[in-house]
Amino acid sequence: MDYKEKWDNIEDQIRTIGVLTSGGDAPGMNAAIRAVVRAGIAKGFEVRGIRRGYHGLLKEEIIDMKARDVSDIIQRGGTILQTARCQSMMTKEGQQKAAAILKKYGIDALVVIGGDGSFRGARDLSKLGVKVICIPGTIDLDIACTDYSIGFDTAVNTAMEAIDKIRDTSTSHERCSIVEVMGRAAGYIGMWCGIANGAEKILIPEEVGEFYEEDIIADIIRCNKAGKKNYIIINAEGVGDTMEMAKRIEAATGIETRATILGHMQRGGSPSCKDRVYASMMGSKAAELLSEGKYNRVIAYKDAKYIDLDIDKALAETKHISDYRYHMTRVRL
Ligand code: F6P
Repeated sequence: MDYKEKWDNIEDQIRTIGVLTSGGDAPGMNAAIRAVVRAGIAKGFEVRGIRRGYHGLLKEEIIDMKARDVSDIIQRGGTILQTARCQSMMTKEGQQKAAAILKKYGIDALVVIGGDGSFRGARDLSKLGVKVICIPGTIDLDIACTDYSIGFDTAVNTAMEAIDKIRDTSTSHERCSIVEVMGRAAGYIGMWCGIANGAEKILIPEEVGEFYEEDIIADIIRCNKAGKKNYIIINAEGVGDTMEMAKRIEAATGIETRATILGHMQRGGSPSCKDRVYASMMGSKAAELLSEGKYNRVIAYKDAKYIDLDIDKALAETKHISDYRYHMTRVRL
C-alpha cells in the first residue's frame, strides 16, 4: 500500500499529533518542539504536548499546544516539555499502557525527540500500532543513523570554552589538568573538544588502549624534561574515574595534577545557531512526513541532507568514530 492509499483509509488518517522529549535534555530541543507545533498546526493537525517524556505519558500529563505556547522558546536551553528516563517503557505492560493512553487522548501519531533509548521506546510503540516519528536529540552524538543530533554542537562549544579557561589556570600553575566530558559510552564530545582545545591527550572509550595511563605518564615526564610545563588531558566519561586518574598521574610524575568534571553544564545553555536551525528543520520535517502519511521513520542528517529512515533499519545501524578523525587525536598538531 502506498502512502496515498494509506491516507485515503479513514482509519489511518492522522488528525492529532503528540510530541515529547525523552532521555537527557539537549539544547535545541525547544526549537524542535516549536517547529513540530507550528509546522503541525500549519499542516492542519491538532498538537498535544506530553510532559516528562514517556514517564509523563504513563501519568497522562498531556496538554494542548497552540502556536503561542511555543513563543519565545527557540533561544532557551533545556526542554519546556521537560524530560525523564523511564524504566517502565522497557516493559511490555508499560508499552501497552502508553499505547492505550495515546488512543484515549486521540493522539494518532507521536513525535519523539531524544536519544536511541527513546527511539527504542518509539519502535516498541510502533509494534503496537502507534505511528511514530523520531528526531535525534542528544549531546552524545551516538545515534548511529545520523551525523547530527540536537544539542551536540552547543555542548561541545560549552565544553570547549570551559576547557580554554582551565588551560589558562593550568598554564599559570604549570599543572597537568584532566578534564572529564560527557558522552556516556561514546567519545564524540571528547574527540571534538580534544581537537578544538589542542589537548595533549584525548581519551575516548572506543579507542582507549590497555596501557593508556602508562603512556600518558611517560609522555608527561618526557615533555616536562623537554621544558613543557602544562598538559591537558580530555577524558571522555566512558573511559574511567577522572579523580582517581589524576591522583595516580600526580603520584607517578610528581607534577601537580587537577581533575575537573564538566558534568551537566554541558547540557545547559542557550542553543547554538546550528542547533536552533537543524532542530527547526527536523521538527518541521516531522510534521511534513506525517502530513504525507509517512510514519515509523527516524529523521537523520547525512551527507548534508535531512533524510528519513525506517525505524527498524535506523536502530539496526552501528556507529564508529571515523578513522581520520581518530587519527587527528593521535597527532601532536
Ligand atoms: O545522554 C546524555 C548524557 O548527558 C550522557 O552524556 C551522560 O552519561 C548522561 O546523559 C547523564 O545522565 P543523567 O543526567 O541522567 O545523570
